[in-house]
Amino acid sequence: MNYSVFPTPFEKPNIMKTTIIEKEKYIELNTHLESPCPYHLGADISASFCDIVGRYEFDYLFFVVDANLEAAFRNSIFKYVKREFHCCIQIIPPGEMSKSFDSIMKTGSSLLQKGLSKNSILVSFGGGVICNLTGMLAGMLFRGIRFIEVPTSLMGQTDSSLSNKQAVNSSLGKNHFGLYHAPLFIWSDTLYLKTEPLESRKSGIVEAVKNGLISDASFLNVLEQKLGSGHHLSGQDLHDLTLQIIQSKLFILKTDPSEKKEGLILEYGHTLGHALEWNSHGGLLHGEAVSFGILFAANIAHKIGLLTREEKQYHSYLIQYILGYKSELPNGFSSAMLMQTMLADNKKTDDKVRFILLETIGRCHQREGNYLTPVSQDILLTALKDLTKE
Ligand SMILES: NC(=O)c1ccc[n+]([C@@H]2O[C@H](COP(=O)([O-])OP(=O)(O)OC[C@H]3O[C@@H](n4cnc5c(N)ncnc54)[C@H](O)[C@@H]3O)[C@@H](O)[C@H]2O)c1
Repeated sequence: MNYSVFPTPFEKPNIMKTTIIEKEKYIELNTHLESPCPYHLGADISASFCDIVGRYEFDYLFFVVDANLEAAFRNSIFKYVKREFHCCIQIIPPGEMSKSFDSIMKTGSSLLQKGLSKNSILVSFGGGVICNLTGMLAGMLFRGIRFIEVPTSLMGQTDSSLSNKQAVNSSLGKNHFGLYHAPLFIWSDTLYLKTEPLESRKSGIVEAVKNGLISDASFLNVLEQKLGSGHHLSGQDLHDLTLQIIQSKLFILKTDPSEKKEGLILEYGHTLGHALEWNSHGGLLHGEAVSFGILFAANIAHKIGLLTREEKQYHSYLIQYILGYKSELPNGFSSAMLMQTMLADNKKTDDKVRFILLETIGRCHQREGNYLTPVSQDILLTALKDLTKE
């Protein structure tokens, strides 16, 4: 499909010029956040991690990791830090089900028993789940202690670590309990991405596709070129791709770092995506669920006359052809169940579920500066039935 015809409504981001500070082994990015913190990005930079941590005063470093990460890095980074500092590795079960108050309670209590004080530093070492949970825990322990964010998945390095948004899920849906809490710094070593499972990497790339769809159609060309030969990327490719995706998100965050106004467009595909992820009980990865949410939002936008048929088809081309996701939902989802969960979505007002919708590829629909479009339950139900084939 020829998508070069789609317009690029924004000036191409040129974050390289203004925000990258070159260090010897890593670069430092400016995240534009309200509570700014350095973002260090490099390949094979574990050794410098200890140098930077050593600049802070603390009694203990508490690493929070999941079992997969502990196994993958037991003989590398964890070995080095244990030699250098008083530190302890706290292991929690992998997966979305760990993003809960139950985990906050268990992990927090265990850390306190092990001697955590106000002068300790937490290190979130893992994917978006570990980073969201640990960030939330750090924000709550003694009304806020310091933490360092070490994202190890593509989603973590390019998306979840760029917002300071920490959250766990409620019994009704995703990210209902949360707070903003900034890390001391973010440390992203793209070497870590080599052990990330392919399905998880693919899930991270969905957010990159989303960034292109909502703000920069030309970024979709870049992604297609990088991913055209499949998802098996060299170390250098992974590093370059990570930097490009980070820049695509920073470009959006530049005007609204706390994602309350223009930054809300980053929620594209997330209303249904979160409902699917939540109801799958860990069966669908975040990006996989959001990929269905993106197709769903494109279908709604087409139904209400915002997107043409070709623009809707272009969404399917990206999700199915470039990312290799299926168009059919796995069994077990009904429109009634998804509707009920969407009605608990954090963007909902009154009885209206509100969506980020596109008016063309690369530009979101807005009315008087408001990017959230209320969609009637009739339209929602029809679009849900298209998806669930009921
Ligand atoms: N706060 C935000 O702004 C924001 C943005 C996007 C996503 N999120 C959240 O992030 C979560 C998804 O994050 P995710 O996609 O990283 O999933 P995840 O944290 O569940 O990690 C995916 C899987 O990959 C494994 N893994 C991660 N890095 C690895 C590595 N280097 N080597 C080996 N295994 C590795 C993990 O153990 C896990 O099994 C969701 O809960 C989502 O809501 C938050």
